[in-house]
Amino acid sequence: MIRMVSPSLLSADFANLQRDIEMLNDSECDWLHIDVMDGMFVPNISFGQPVIKYIKKHSKKPLDVHLMIMDPGRYVADFKKCGADILTVHYEACTHLNRTLAAIRDEGMKCGVVLNPHTPVSLLEDTVQMCDMVLLMSVNPGFGGQKFIENTYSKVAQLRELCNRKNPQCLIEVDGGVNTDNAPKLYQAGADVLVAGNAVFASANPIDTIHQLKG
Ligand code: DX5
Ligand code: ZN
Repeated sequence: MIRMVSPSLLSADFANLQRDIEMLNDSECDWLHIDVMDGMFVPNISFGQPVIKYIKKHSKKPLDVHLMIMDPGRYVADFKKCGADILTVHYEACTHLNRTLAAIRDEGMKCGVVLNPHTPVSLLEDTVQMCDMVLLMSVNPGFGGQKFIENTYSKVAQLRELCNRKNPQCLIEVDGGVNTDNAPKLYQAGADVLVAGNAVFASANPIDTIHQLKG
């Protein structure tokens, strides 16, 4: 069973990013989760390629870049250039999803599709074959520190069934409101990678919290 943790830097101290990245380098986390928001697809703006370039410089872990932007196909080459290793795009933000996933692969990155809480897993019947990963949002994207949506467990189980049928290698990632209480249930439902922002950075001992999240 795969159990990976990808702490979200959205909850890090942006004035001390290097310090927080070094802390994550020394932890058991597998990836760094990077949330890019454009103020259009989601009602918030975070940061973009110039900041990611410097995150890459200090990180010893792969960068798991979650694009919450409209029409992300426009920026695939740019995110490769600034250091993304895994690039995920929203189903709801892509008119030509198939083309965008192929472009991510062609740039030598792992590709993934993200589903908002309202988007059914069944819409991936014709796409999951192309994915290295599917990310299920367990909150409405845009902000850290929100409450976990309980319906996510059944979506993870449905997606596991779909992956077993069509692409057993595909990883399942869950993002939003993940903490040490719901992590075991998510792994049990079939999740492989857990994103955690607030749970890690607001905890008294982030390194220990990451250890606990690994299960
Ligand atoms: C939400 C982002 C998440 C967020 C998770 O739009 O995609 O990655 O940072 O933060 P927590 O774990 O605090 O819900
Ligand atoms: Zn995210």
